[in-house]
Amino acid sequence: MNIHSFKQWKNESRKISMVTCYDFWSAKILDKSDVDCLLVGDSLALVMHGFDSTVHATIELMEVHVQAVARGAKNKFIIADMPFLSCSKGLTVAMDGVQRLMQAGAHAIKIEGDNGHQVELITHIVEAGVPVMGHLGLTPQSVHALGGHRVQAKAEAQAEKLLAGAKSLEQAGCFALVLECIPSKLGNKVSRSVGIPSIGIGAGVDTDGQVLVLQDLLGVDPEFSPKFLRRYADSENLIREATNQFHADVVGQSFPNAGESYQ
Ligand code: KIV
Repeated sequence: MNIHSFKQWKNESRKISMVTCYDFWSAKILDKSDVDCLLVGDSLALVMHGFDSTVHATIELMEVHVQAVARGAKNKFIIADMPFLSCSKGLTVAMDGVQRLMQAGAHAIKIEGDNGHQVELITHIVEAGVPVMGHLGLTPQSVHALGGHRVQAKAEAQAEKLLAGAKSLEQAGCFALVLECIPSKLGNKVSRSVGIPSIGIGAGVDTDGQVLVLQDLLGVDPEFSPKFLRRYADSENLIREATNQFHADVVGQSFPNAGESYQ
Protein backbone atom coordinates (compact mmCIF):
# COMPACT_ATOMS: atom_id res chain seq x y z
CA MET A 1 0.00 0.00 0.00
CA ASN A 2 1.12 3.55 -0.67
CA ILE A 3 -0.41 7.00 -0.72
CA HIS A 4 -2.08 6.37 -4.11
CA SER A 5 -3.92 3.29 -2.85
CA PHE A 6 -6.26 5.43 -0.74
CA LYS A 7 -7.86 7.24 -3.67
CA GLN A 8 -7.75 4.16 -5.88
CA TRP A 9 -9.64 2.11 -3.30
CA LYS A 10 -12.27 4.84 -2.90
CA ASN A 11 -12.74 4.90 -6.67
CA GLU A 12 -13.10 1.11 -6.67
CA SER A 13 -15.49 1.22 -3.67
CA ARG A 14 -13.04 -1.01 -1.81
CA LYS A 15 -13.29 -0.16 1.90
CA ILE A 16 -10.14 0.76 3.83
CA SER A 17 -9.25 -0.66 7.25
CA MET A 18 -7.07 1.19 9.73
CA VAL A 19 -6.18 0.32 13.33
CA THR A 20 -4.15 2.15 15.90
CA CYS A 21 -0.76 0.78 16.82
CA TYR A 22 1.51 2.14 19.51
CA ASP A 23 4.30 -0.34 20.18
CA PHE A 24 6.81 -2.77 18.72
CA TRP A 25 5.22 -6.10 19.61
CA SER A 26 1.75 -5.29 18.32
CA ALA A 27 3.31 -3.68 15.22
CA LYS A 28 5.07 -6.98 14.49
CA ILE A 29 1.77 -8.85 14.69
CA LEU A 30 -0.16 -6.26 12.65
CA ASP A 31 2.57 -6.24 10.02
CA LYS A 32 1.52 -9.83 9.23
CA SER A 33 -2.20 -8.99 9.29
CA ASP A 34 -4.47 -7.96 6.40
CA VAL A 35 -5.23 -4.54 7.87
CA ASP A 36 -4.46 -1.74 5.38
CA CYS A 37 -2.71 0.87 7.48
CA LEU A 38 -1.62 1.73 11.00
CA LEU A 39 -2.31 4.89 12.96
CA VAL A 40 0.03 5.89 15.75
CA GLY A 41 -2.81 7.87 17.29
CA ASP A 42 -2.40 10.30 20.15
CA SER A 43 -5.02 8.12 21.87
CA LEU A 44 -1.88 6.37 23.11
CA ALA A 45 -1.88 9.01 25.88
CA LEU A 46 -4.98 7.29 27.29
CA VAL A 47 -4.46 3.69 26.24
CA MET A 48 -0.74 3.33 26.94
CA HIS A 49 -0.13 5.98 29.60
CA GLY A 50 -3.42 6.25 31.51
CA PHE A 51 -4.02 9.98 30.95
CA ASP A 52 -7.62 11.20 30.80
CA SER A 53 -7.29 12.88 27.37
CA THR A 54 -5.05 13.24 24.33
CA VAL A 55 -4.11 16.72 25.56
CA HIS A 56 -1.18 15.05 27.33
CA ALA A 57 0.50 13.66 24.21
CA THR A 58 3.66 15.50 23.16
CA ILE A 59 5.87 15.32 20.09
CA GLU A 60 8.54 13.54 22.16
CA LEU A 61 6.01 10.90 23.27
CA MET A 62 4.63 10.44 19.75
CA GLU A 63 8.15 10.16 18.35
CA VAL A 64 9.11 7.28 20.68
CA HIS A 65 5.96 5.35 19.78
CA VAL A 66 6.33 5.99 16.02
CA GLN A 67 9.91 4.68 16.17
CA ALA A 68 8.78 1.50 17.94
CA VAL A 69 5.94 0.90 15.46
CA ALA A 70 8.19 1.57 12.46
CA ARG A 71 10.71 -0.99 13.77
CA GLY A 72 7.94 -3.61 14.07
CA ALA A 73 5.81 -2.93 10.98
CA LYS A 74 8.18 -2.67 8.05
CA ASN A 75 5.49 -3.35 5.42
CA LYS A 76 2.62 -1.16 6.54
CA PHE A 77 1.69 2.42 5.74
CA ILE A 78 2.09 4.29 9.04
CA ILE A 79 0.25 7.51 9.87
CA ALA A 80 1.20 9.50 12.97
CA ASP A 81 -0.87 12.06 14.87
CA MET A 82 0.43 15.58 15.31
CA PRO A 83 -0.28 16.06 19.03
CA PHE A 84 -2.04 18.78 21.02
CA LEU A 85 -1.12 22.36 19.99
CA SER A 86 1.80 21.17 17.87
CA CYS A 87 0.13 22.86 14.88
CA SER A 88 -0.84 26.07 16.63
CA LYS A 89 2.51 27.60 17.58
CA GLY A 90 3.60 28.76 14.18
CA LEU A 91 5.00 27.22 11.05
CA THR A 92 8.51 26.46 12.28
CA VAL A 93 7.39 24.61 15.39
CA ALA A 94 4.84 22.65 13.35
CA MET A 95 7.34 21.76 10.64
CA ASP A 96 9.88 20.66 13.27
CA GLY A 97 7.22 18.33 14.67
CA VAL A 98 6.37 16.97 11.23
CA GLN A 99 10.05 16.36 10.56
CA ARG A 100 10.48 14.46 13.84
CA LEU A 101 7.53 12.15 13.19
CA MET A 102 8.50 11.50 9.56
CA GLN A 103 12.13 10.82 10.50
CA ALA A 104 10.86 8.53 13.27
CA GLY A 105 9.34 6.34 10.54
CA ALA A 106 5.87 7.69 9.71
CA HIS A 107 4.75 7.82 6.07
CA ALA A 108 2.10 10.48 6.70
CA ILE A 109 0.80 12.62 9.51
CA LYS A 110 -2.71 13.34 10.77
CA ILE A 111 -3.93 16.76 11.89
CA GLU A 112 -7.15 17.44 13.80
CA GLY A 113 -9.39 20.35 12.79
CA ASP A 114 -10.07 22.75 9.96
CA ASN A 115 -9.42 26.19 11.40
CA GLY A 116 -7.86 28.78 9.10
CA HIS A 117 -4.35 28.33 10.47
CA GLN A 118 -4.64 24.53 10.24
CA VAL A 119 -5.76 24.60 6.62
CA GLU A 120 -2.90 26.97 5.76
CA LEU A 121 -0.44 24.74 7.57
CA ILE A 122 -1.75 21.61 5.84
CA THR A 123 -1.23 23.30 2.45
CA HIS A 124 2.35 24.07 3.43
CA ILE A 125 3.07 20.55 4.74
CA VAL A 126 1.62 18.95 1.60
CA GLU A 127 3.67 21.30 -0.59
CA ALA A 128 6.73 20.23 1.42
CA GLY A 129 6.08 16.65 0.28
CA VAL A 130 4.47 15.17 3.38
CA PRO A 131 1.07 13.43 3.04
CA VAL A 132 -1.56 14.73 5.48
CA MET A 133 -4.69 12.99 6.75
CA GLY A 134 -7.38 15.33 8.13
CA HIS A 135 -9.66 14.64 11.11
CA LEU A 136 -13.10 16.20 11.65
CA GLY A 137 -16.16 15.65 13.85
CA LEU A 138 -15.14 14.75 17.37
CA THR A 139 -11.58 16.04 17.54
CA PRO A 140 -10.41 14.76 20.95
CA GLN A 141 -7.62 17.34 21.31
CA SER A 142 -10.43 19.94 21.64
CA VAL A 143 -12.27 17.89 24.28
CA HIS A 144 -12.43 20.82 26.71
CA ALA A 145 -13.81 23.21 24.09
CA LEU A 146 -16.33 20.59 22.95
CA GLY A 147 -17.52 19.93 26.51
CA GLY A 148 -16.61 16.24 26.48
CA HIS A 149 -16.44 13.26 24.13
CA ARG A 150 -19.82 13.46 22.42
CA VAL A 151 -21.41 13.06 18.98
CA GLN A 152 -20.76 16.16 16.86
CA ALA A 153 -22.58 18.07 14.12
CA LYS A 154 -26.09 16.88 14.91
CA ALA A 155 -27.58 20.30 14.08
CA GLU A 156 -27.98 21.32 10.44
CA ALA A 157 -25.69 24.36 10.72
CA GLN A 158 -22.87 22.30 12.30
CA ALA A 159 -23.31 19.61 9.67
CA GLU A 160 -22.96 22.23 6.90
CA LYS A 161 -19.86 23.63 8.61
CA LEU A 162 -18.32 20.16 8.83
CA LEU A 163 -19.06 19.50 5.17
CA ALA A 164 -17.43 22.81 4.19
CA GLY A 165 -14.44 21.90 6.38
CA ALA A 166 -14.06 18.54 4.64
CA LYS A 167 -14.03 20.29 1.26
CA SER A 168 -11.42 22.79 2.41
CA LEU A 169 -9.20 19.99 3.76
CA GLU A 170 -9.46 18.22 0.40
CA GLN A 171 -8.57 21.49 -1.32
CA ALA A 172 -5.58 21.93 1.01
CA GLY A 173 -4.27 18.58 -0.21
CA CYS A 174 -5.28 16.03 2.44
CA PHE A 175 -5.17 12.48 1.03
CA ALA A 176 -7.84 11.15 3.41
CA LEU A 177 -10.06 12.26 6.24
CA VAL A 178 -10.99 10.70 9.58
CA LEU A 179 -14.62 11.37 10.54
CA GLU A 180 -15.20 10.72 14.22
CA CYS A 181 -18.54 10.43 16.03
CA ILE A 182 -20.96 12.15 13.68
CA PRO A 183 -24.45 11.08 12.55
CA SER A 184 -24.34 8.40 9.82
CA LYS A 185 -26.33 10.60 7.46
CA LEU A 186 -23.58 13.21 7.61
CA GLY A 187 -20.89 10.52 7.26
CA ASN A 188 -22.63 9.52 4.03
CA LYS A 189 -22.98 13.09 2.76
CA VAL A 190 -19.34 14.01 3.42
CA SER A 191 -18.08 10.78 1.87
CA ARG A 192 -20.12 11.42 -1.28
CA SER A 193 -19.09 15.08 -1.46
CA VAL A 194 -15.31 14.74 -1.41
CA GLY A 195 -12.96 12.87 -3.72
CA ILE A 196 -10.65 11.71 -0.93
CA PRO A 197 -11.57 8.69 1.21
CA SER A 198 -13.25 9.17 4.56
CA ILE A 199 -12.27 6.81 7.35
CA GLY A 200 -14.95 6.65 9.99
CA ILE A 201 -15.07 5.90 13.68
CA GLY A 202 -18.64 6.22 14.85
CA ALA A 203 -19.56 7.82 11.52
CA GLY A 204 -21.85 5.11 10.13
CA VAL A 205 -21.70 2.54 7.38
CA ASP A 206 -21.11 4.76 4.36
CA THR A 207 -17.62 6.10 5.01
CA ASP A 208 -14.89 4.78 2.70
CA GLY A 209 -13.13 3.02 5.54
CA GLN A 210 -13.22 2.32 9.26
CA VAL A 211 -10.71 2.81 12.06
CA LEU A 212 -10.73 1.39 15.58
CA VAL A 213 -8.31 1.55 18.46
CA LEU A 214 -6.58 -1.85 18.55
CA GLN A 215 -7.09 -2.38 22.29
CA ASP A 216 -10.81 -1.54 21.91
CA LEU A 217 -11.40 -4.07 19.14
CA LEU A 218 -9.43 -6.64 21.12
CA GLY A 219 -11.67 -6.11 24.15
CA VAL A 220 -8.92 -5.17 26.59
CA ASP A 221 -11.15 -2.85 28.62
CA PRO A 222 -14.71 -4.16 29.13
CA GLU A 223 -15.71 -0.87 30.79
CA PHE A 224 -15.16 1.07 27.55
CA SER A 225 -18.17 0.36 25.38
CA PRO A 226 -19.21 3.23 23.11
CA LYS A 227 -22.06 2.51 20.68
CA PHE A 228 -19.72 2.40 17.66
CA LEU A 229 -17.39 -0.25 19.06
CA ARG A 230 -17.44 -3.88 17.93
CA ARG A 231 -15.23 -6.19 19.99
CA TYR A 232 -13.49 -8.98 18.08
CA ALA A 233 -11.92 -10.68 21.09
CA ASP A 234 -12.17 -10.88 24.86
CA SER A 235 -8.56 -10.06 25.62
CA GLU A 236 -9.18 -8.91 29.17
CA ASN A 237 -10.26 -12.47 30.10
CA LEU A 238 -7.63 -14.07 27.89
CA ILE A 239 -4.79 -12.14 29.53
CA ARG A 240 -6.13 -12.59 33.07
CA GLU A 241 -6.73 -16.34 32.58
CA ALA A 242 -3.28 -16.88 31.04
CA THR A 243 -1.49 -15.02 33.83
CA ASN A 244 -3.63 -16.74 36.49
CA GLN A 245 -2.68 -20.10 34.96
CA PHE A 246 1.00 -19.08 35.04
CA HIS A 247 0.63 -18.07 38.70
CA ALA A 248 -1.08 -21.38 39.55
CA ASP A 249 1.65 -23.37 37.78
CA VAL A 250 4.41 -21.51 39.63
CA VAL A 251 2.72 -21.92 43.01
CA GLY A 252 1.83 -25.55 42.22
CA GLN A 253 5.41 -26.19 41.05
CA SER A 254 4.38 -27.52 37.63
CA PHE A 255 6.25 -24.70 35.90
CA PRO A 256 8.97 -25.01 34.83
CA ASN A 257 9.23 -28.76 34.14
CA ALA A 258 12.39 -30.64 33.16
CA GLY A 259 11.85 -29.94 29.46
CA GLU A 260 11.71 -26.24 30.18
CA SER A 261 14.99 -26.31 32.12
CA TYR A 262 18.63 -26.33 30.98
CA GLN A 263 20.53 -29.57 31.73
O1 KIV B 1 -5.79 8.96 18.18
C1 KIV B 1 -6.55 8.13 17.64
O2 KIV B 1 -6.58 6.94 17.98
C2 KIV B 1 -7.43 8.59 16.58
C3 KIV B 1 -8.43 7.63 16.03
C4 KIV B 1 -9.52 7.39 16.99
C5 KIV B 1 -8.95 8.06 14.72
O3 KIV B 1 -7.33 9.71 16.17
